[in-house]
Amino acid sequence: MSQAPFFNEKFYSELRLLLEWRRDVRRFCTDPLPAGLVEEFVGLASLGPSVGYSQPCRFVRVDDPKRRASVMESYERANRAALASYKGADAELYCRLKLAGLGESPVHLAAFCDRATSTGKGLGRQSMPQALQYSAVMAICILWLAARARGVGVGWVSILEPEVVTRVLDVPESWELIGYLCLGYPRSDDDRPALMRVGWEKRDPRAATLLVR
Ligand SMILES: Cc1cc2nc3c(=O)[nH]c(=O)nc-3n(C[C@H](O)[C@H](O)[C@H](O)COP(=O)(O)O)c2cc1C
Repeated sequence: MSQAPFFNEKFYSELRLLLEWRRDVRRFCTDPLPAGLVEEFVGLASLGPSVGYSQPCRFVRVDDPKRRASVMESYERANRAALASYKGADAELYCRLKLAGLGESPVHLAAFCDRATSTGKGLGRQSMPQALQYSAVMAICILWLAARARGVGVGWVSILEPEVVTRVLDVPESWELIGYLCLGYPRSDDDRPALMRVGWEKRDPRAATLLVR
């Protein structure tokens, strides 16, 4: 057994700042990230909890310009389809939103859940199989925070056709796309979500409410 470090008040208040300033980023500087940083983030993400210690998250860095272009085209198709589902003022506002930084961000990372992994021997997911995908989300969340702690912004793009992205990246069939992430230095910082700033959505008090039963 080893001795756990003591996380003091200063650390806790800095953690709070990290959480308050994390942000989903869609406007990136094109500057490359220092060598080794993405690998460091992936290493930290692998420390996350996972059902049965299954560790199912697989990250793929997408560097190939042709593959990136195909992902961008998928985004454009999915975004057009999404726009068609809105009417009136929502449609007008949706048109003005920037919902991905795929063009400028120096790093694209696709995050998959390996549904065929035998690691963890199925523990904890017999009655809730989706716990495996939740475990991959945990890894993404840690990567997001680790990146922010190094001043790197992350933008999660879900306006994509998962089957297209999976095919384009040529990954094993058992890998399910969980998230497509853009990473890079943000053009600006804010402690409020972009969608709140532009009036798309307000803070929902239910999200910070603790019910007791
Ligand atoms: C699962 C998931 C998918 C998301 N997909 C998109 C997306 O496709 N485009 C986008 O602009 N933001 C996307 N976001 C970011 C959210 O819009 C953002 O987290 C939310 O507006 C709150 O802003 P914040 O992350 O800056 O606090 C996604 C976030 C999550 C967790």
